Amino acid sequence: MYLSGVRTVRFTVSSSDDLSPETPAIAECATILHRGGLIAIPTETVYGLAANALDPAAVMRIFEAKGRPAWDPLIVHVSTFEMVPRVAAESPALAQNLAERFWPGPLTLLLPKSTRLPNAVTAGRATVAVRMPAHPVARALIAAADLPLAAPSANRFGRISPTTADHVLSELDGRIDAVLDAGATEVGVESTVLDPLRTPPLLLRPGGVTREQIEAVVGPVELYSPPTHAPEPEALASPGPAVRHYAPTARLVLLDGERDALLKAARDYVGSEGERGNYVGIMAPDGWIDETTLAAGGIVLFASGAWKDWAQLGRNLFAGLRYLDKPGVSVILCPLPSAEGMGLALRDRLVRAARTVIQYRQ
Ligand code: TXA
Ligand code: MG
Repeated sequence: MYLSGVRTVRFTVSSSDDLSPETPAIAECATILHRGGLIAIPTETVYGLAANALDPAAVMRIFEAKGRPAWDPLIVHVSTFEMVPRVAAESPALAQNLAERFWPGPLTLLLPKSTRLPNAVTAGRATVAVRMPAHPVARALIAAADLPLAAPSANRFGRISPTTADHVLSELDGRIDAVLDAGATEVGVESTVLDPLRTPPLLLRPGGVTREQIEAVVGPVELYSPPTHAPEPEALASPGPAVRHYAPTARLVLLDGERDALLKAARDYVGSEGERGNYVGIMAPDGWIDETTLAAGGIVLFASGAWKDWAQLGRNLFAGLRYLDKPGVSVILCPLPSAEGMGLALRDRLVRAARTVIQYRQ
């Protein structure tokens, strides 16, 4: 089915459409999945690159299309609780509590793997990461195909996660069979990945469900920080968080401080970069950039939303990084959110996207 250079078909649907299994876009995508093909699907977080999780050849194609190393395991997506035993051997009580509270939604839980699930999905690990997405289109497709779907974010390995079908096509056109286009995603950053099998539970990747929300259900969780001098990926609690990711081509400069720090950095960088004929990209919260800064020229702005509304900034973050990362822009300036609520996930993505963490203080 998948061949390098295949034409990638775009199916367009809307969450408010009839999404029954007979709907042509859903039915065709289900058929492609049954034949072992790859489809980029919308979820509430980011677009995922989906294949039948139970088909080892289809799973291998995901790794090939993304250029993803075989040691980085995939998340399996289900549409009902009944589907979980097809991929996981058991669901301990704590995991069950969390699933009942947060599914469908952006929480991924590690569970003991079922022997029926191909080893490639979990990169040979004994656990499988499972989530039930909230996006009606994702759920309709999983239900119509009646298959658990393995799906990492639909970007080339190490790049910025896609929040629109156009983002997907910009990196994967001709490498996947189809993209199911349901418009921009709602949350904008990926799911929270939690290992509930450890005591205390280990938060492997902050995301759409906040640490505070999880702790309200299960008590304190521990925040995973991967070793800086990583041993073998196989030896890590989770390999994904240990690698540089979400990287724009331009240099990303993170500002630890608020509006004044951003304006000062803008002046400094416009001065030094402007001399070399370069532009400075700015992820600018609403109302932060004043007339003087604008009038000085040399900047490209992306309006990221209301500061401290981390959910809104999260929805715009990846689209903003992509927008600002254009030829001629050598530096992108971005203020760092605080670590509360969804801010924790935004900080995580930004710190991992920055080539070096330059915290520019006033
Ligand atoms: O929101 C999301 O989670 C999106 C959408 C498409 O569902 N998916 C996503 O997948 O972000 P991906 O592959 O880009 O990130 C999955 C992360 C990686 O960091 C991976 O290392 C980790 O989860 N992971 C997956 N299975 C694991 C396992 N068994 N043990 C430890 N970490 C695991
Ligand atoms: Mg990813």
